[in-house]
Amino acid sequence: MTWKYVCSATDVPKNTLKQFDADGIMLVVANYGGRFRAFPPVCPHMEEPLEESGIIANCVLTCSKHLWSWDLGTLSMLGETEKPLKTYDVKEEEGKLFALIDKELVYEFENSDGDDDDFFK
Ligand code: FES
Repeated sequence: MTWKYVCSATDVPKNTLKQFDADGIMLVVANYGGRFRAFPPVCPHMEEPLEESGIIANCVLTCSKHLWSWDLGTLSMLGETEKPLKTYDVKEEEGKLFALIDKELVYEFENSDGDDDDFFK
């Protein structure tokens, strides 16, 4: 596992999310009240880009598409949310944010439009 530089802490204002490329791994950094979380850039529900659909209020991340939400402090699932948020550990050193990345975290999604990939095999 390696700590990879992601961004400056000031790149992500309070209660916002921003997407970054950390040495080839796309991730989103969330600033919730001055603390940070880093996680894959898509919603675990239906792959919505969280940089666009995510809203942070009162330490809670909500995907505005179907209102799945997570407590960013405890990472517990709230309301009707059915999948946990996968996260990378984050540390802040001298105003810079680093994420502990072993391999890219991904979610498994059900194939909703049939198994088109098999068509070409
Ligand atoms: S895509 Fe995010 S809640 Fe459905």
